[in-house]
Amino acid sequence: MNFRETLKINSNNHVEIGGIDTLELVNRFGTPLYVMDEAYIRSVCRAFKGALDEHYGKGTISFASKAFSTRAIYRIIDGEGLTADVVSEGEIYTALSAGFDPAKLYFHGNNKSIRELKYAISSRIGHIVIDSLDEIALIGEIAGENSVIQNVLLRINPGVEAHTHKSVQTATPDSKFGFSIDNGQADEAVSAVLSAKNVKLCGFHCHIGSQIFEKTAFVVAVDKMTDYIQHVKSKFGYVTEVLDLGGGFGINYTDEDPKFSSNDYAEYVVCAINALKKALEIKNLDKPYLVFEPGRSIVGEAGITLYTVGAVKDIPGIRKYVSVDGGMFESPRYALYGSKYDVCPAVNPLSEPTQTVTIAGKCCESGDVIAVDVQMPDVKRGDVLVAFSTGAYHYSMSSNYNRNLTPAVVLVGDGKADYIVKPQTLE
Ligand code: LLP
Repeated sequence: MNFRETLKINSNNHVEIGGIDTLELVNRFGTPLYVMDEAYIRSVCRAFKGALDEHYGKGTISFASKAFSTRAIYRIIDGEGLTADVVSEGEIYTALSAGFDPAKLYFHGNNKSIRELKYAISSRIGHIVIDSLDEIALIGEIAGENSVIQNVLLRINPGVEAHTHKSVQTATPDSKFGFSIDNGQADEAVSAVLSAKNVKLCGFHCHIGSQIFEKTAFVVAVDKMTDYIQHVKSKFGYVTEVLDLGGGFGINYTDEDPKFSSNDYAEYVVCAINALKKALEIKNLDKPYLVFEPGRSIVGEAGITLYTVGAVKDIPGIRKYVSVDGGMFESPRYALYGSKYDVCPAVNPLSEPTQTVTIAGKCCESGDVIAVDVQMPDVKRGDVLVAFSTGAYHYSMSSNYNRNLTPAVVLVGDGKADYIVKPQTLE
């Protein structure tokens, strides 16, 4: 169990988050419920930004908002001096409606629609990260109609294989993302952008994957990207102003994963920065503005999900299912990636386990599981369970499958709690 100062066991022997007893949260807001710990989010933002400011001094932490896109989070990260990465008109809309400065948005996506590009450019979005050749002319045309020069980055596929689940690897040779350096498509894109009208090439982006623990993966990415920056300098005479190294920093889901304090995230950034400084010196390159795009690491461990136990079914010699009132409509990552989670009772969370159970959801399919083979004390209908590290890619990937209502999201801090996403209604 991943406890910390703001997620702990209180004197009643209940799980407490942000200074509030989880049973109190359940009484006030019901279950299933997403709960986000504001202090943790802010502490990770500060760790990332502090490391970048102190060790490099020229760059930004751009929250990958696909991990958790709500008005509240854009306000929090804005307050912490971060920028944001958006991938759809919905995320742009959510950010803008929270009062986020469009100039601080980086718009990503391998297939942005014309409507989305028009919306982004007419909203004066800061940067668009180009990911296909025909997007270059499209952006130029729309920028022309809006009488603006659009700042763009090119998404490069550096061919780095991060050791993570294959669905979240994004820089292998067979990827729908980015322009490959190796097959010459990156050069083709550079040449096209440099000759396009109403478009200004600011630099290069790469993202090597997600849930990565090896710091060396980022060092390899730095090496490949600076090689490429050197190559475009000599081939096109182009001096790169911005280098965006993407996100992907791993978090703790279960004891199988490393356990980081928020400050440990600073180490990833420092490690990449040290590699970059060295590479710039050796390769004789100008210092680019540096961007990191963490998503999961900022919000993942900040979140827990609260459930109420319903049916308990013991199939002798096979498996015991403890079903809860959630499921793949709000916790889709087991069904998609086989992801593991820690789950414990909200009351007496550390009491001696008596059984191995599978926590199942309420959706009409067998793969609808929240966590397999969890060690549990006895639990019965009505008990409250806590699933950990659910702040990233849960709410943002939730659905209304089986016409279940997507849970509300509550933000907690300093003993206070309030909705940041209100409950859905059947209507
Ligand atoms: N930048 C780009 C261009 C990305 O594609 C992503 C994530 C990020 C940054 C942020 O990566 P993070 O720091 O969150 O790892 N739904 C999957 C994760 C998909 C990640 C997609 N891209 C999951 O639940 O594990």
